[in-house]
Amino acid sequence: MGRITVSIIKADVGSLAGHHVVHPKQIEVAKESLQLAVDSGIILDYYVFNCGDDLQLLMTHRRGENNPEVHKVAWNVFKEVTEKVSKPLKLYAAGQDLLVDAFSGNIRGMGPGVAELEFDERPSDPIIVFAADKTEPGAWNLPLFKIFADPFNTAGLVIDPRLHAGFKFQILDVMEGLSVELSCPEEMYDLLALIGTPSRYVISKIYRKDGLPAASASTSRLSLIAGRYVGKDDPVCIVRAQSGLPAVGEILEAFAFPHLVAGWMRGSHNGPLMPVSLDDAKCTRFDGPPRVVALGFQLRDGYLEGPADLFDDPAFEWSRRKAMEIVDYMRRHGPFMPARLGPEEMEYTTLPMVLEKLKSRFKRVS
Ligand code: F6R
Ligand code: MG
Ligand code: MG
Repeated sequence: MGRITVSIIKADVGSLAGHHVVHPKQIEVAKESLQLAVDSGIILDYYVFNCGDDLQLLMTHRRGENNPEVHKVAWNVFKEVTEKVSKPLKLYAAGQDLLVDAFSGNIRGMGPGVAELEFDERPSDPIIVFAADKTEPGAWNLPLFKIFADPFNTAGLVIDPRLHAGFKFQILDVMEGLSVELSCPEEMYDLLALIGTPSRYVISKIYRKDGLPAASASTSRLSLIAGRYVGKDDPVCIVRAQSGLPAVGEILEAFAFPHLVAGWMRGSHNGPLMPVSLDDAKCTRFDGPPRVVALGFQLRDGYLEGPADLFDDPAFEWSRRKAMEIVDYMRRHGPFMPARLGPEEMEYTTLPMVLEKLKSRFKRVS
């Protein structure tokens, strides 16, 4: 078994019918390309899927996190899909998330989103990979907190002695590029003081108190890389489950409540995060609502057994209905806050261009 790294790297490199869904040919080309990376021994296994307009490359390998060769494989897949499919088929926003021309050793900061976790594969190691569309990395803050720190969500925090000591959270300040580690339950209120601002403080990693790696989330913010709005940083996340970690059902439980996240329509609106099956991972109403898929896998000596499409279940029907009720409620606010995001967040959209035009018309009030 030994050490294994699970990497999920995603990008929006163009989609069908606006920002709606990845084209099947894009998936086909990505698979062919990743198979070559398996044949040449760079990665062990892969699974290609999409959440809305984002192409998701899930890979396993033995090269550790931030490995230049693995990142290069992903970069080349996105380039190839753009050149071979998105551009010739004139898909919408072809190559959108590829913000630079040439690969420079680490795909972080180049546009695509990345979540990676290196660990010793347990005799049986279930993982869940989450991917969301029309939102941002901070969208995981609330469910990750519930999964790893809230005993009302995760019964194991109370009942199972292996979880009872709690978890350590690594938080990234995406504005300043700083990180801090906080320990739960002792520092729970400090943790909440930060992650309640999901546009700035983002959970990047979670470890059990004894150091066992438990979760990893993508943290990139495209607007901070490009200095302007270039689409949302639809996030991904890897969570390990069972045997001294939260159970699969405790992990999914956190998504039964469709909490409000930022990133809907033009990256400018708040909306409920709706848990859906892979088949329903395509955004429609008001370019949304924001959606999340959960794919379960068993690791088998570094290979991926699965996926199990975990939100493909009537048990999540209530959450979807609740999400649609919230959609109606939020939409009735039209262009008003808090349905529309606040001014700091709108800085990266096209709204400042509109406001600029009005500047000269303001007269001083005496
Ligand atoms: C894209 C997204 C969409 C677009 C909107 C306008 O991920 O969230 O809501 O922002 O469809 O797109 P453009 O400006 O490309 O017409
Ligand atoms: Mg898009
Ligand atoms: Mg997207």
